[in-house]
Amino acid sequence: MARFDGRVAFLTGAARGIGAATARTLAAQGAAVAVTDLDAGPAEETAAAIRAAGGKALAIPLDVTNGEQVEAAVARTVAEFGRLDILVACAGIIRDNLLFRMTDDDWDSVIDTHLKGSFLAARAAQKHMVAQRYGKMVFTSSTSALGNRGQTNYSTAKAGLQGMTRTLAIELGPFNINVNAIAPGFIETRMTRATAERLGVDFEQFKADAASRIPLRRVGQPEDVANVVAFLVSDEASFVSGQIIYVAGGPRG
Ligand SMILES: NC(=O)c1ccc[n+]([C@@H]2O[C@H](COP(=O)([O-])OP(=O)(O)OC[C@H]3O[C@@H](n4cnc5c(N)ncnc54)[C@H](O)[C@@H]3O)[C@@H](O)[C@H]2O)c1
Repeated sequence: MARFDGRVAFLTGAARGIGAATARTLAAQGAAVAVTDLDAGPAEETAAAIRAAGGKALAIPLDVTNGEQVEAAVARTVAEFGRLDILVACAGIIRDNLLFRMTDDDWDSVIDTHLKGSFLAARAAQKHMVAQRYGKMVFTSSTSALGNRGQTNYSTAKAGLQGMTRTLAIELGPFNINVNAIAPGFIETRMTRATAERLGVDFEQFKADAASRIPLRRVGQPEDVANVVAFLVSDEASFVSGQIIYVAGGPRG
């Protein structure tokens, strides 16, 4: 029997990057996965690849900042797959700028996507998890929560998610729901590629520079994070809750 046989996972921001790798990892170990994302086409491609590999996957387009869309997507997942056991909130954006150049929209869009989006997904998911007295939630923080130049909006959101994680672990623990967060360092995805582009730096050079500052001397891959998420949402981690697990090749990424 596979690790997640009979389990159903709902992932946000799962069309690409860390979310997609996590969807593939959970599906490969038996979970039925709802691959949700703002970008419908790439979400469908990710879900189709999982199905082609023998897994169960459903793509649902949604904007995590829209409560009605999140509720409807969770309801559709439960209608299709019969239950909801795992929430992995990965949807994210960056709008980096030094404070004096950061616009209201830079602030609002980043805070809404990470913080409100994770809150809305958690609120929609908990109904099903509380009713069945079983659930696993993982939020996506970042080493940027510890402070990062040019990321007032993003680091605030990622630090806020650490508070959300601890608070929901306290509130939902009595219902046998584990709530944890991962805090990745530099992971090779579209997001880090976009940062290199914005800075006008060649991506290979950008990665090499980052790797030279990371104790393990390499940047992370989405699968490095996916494997830790898989552990946190498994029953092997059933006494771990309210924790922030850094996945950064060292104490900071
Ligand atoms: N890449 C890194 O180095 C790194 C480090 C720490 C944390 N993170 C976090 O990991 C998560 C995944 O990032 P990634 O690196 O895989 O980036 P990515 O850009 O590859 O993936 C993010 C996904 O989120 C989706 N998304 C954005 N806004 C959305 C919205 N409103 N509704 C639904 N989906 C939306 C995007 O379409 C995209 O598919 C993010 O929360 C990010 O902040 C990434």
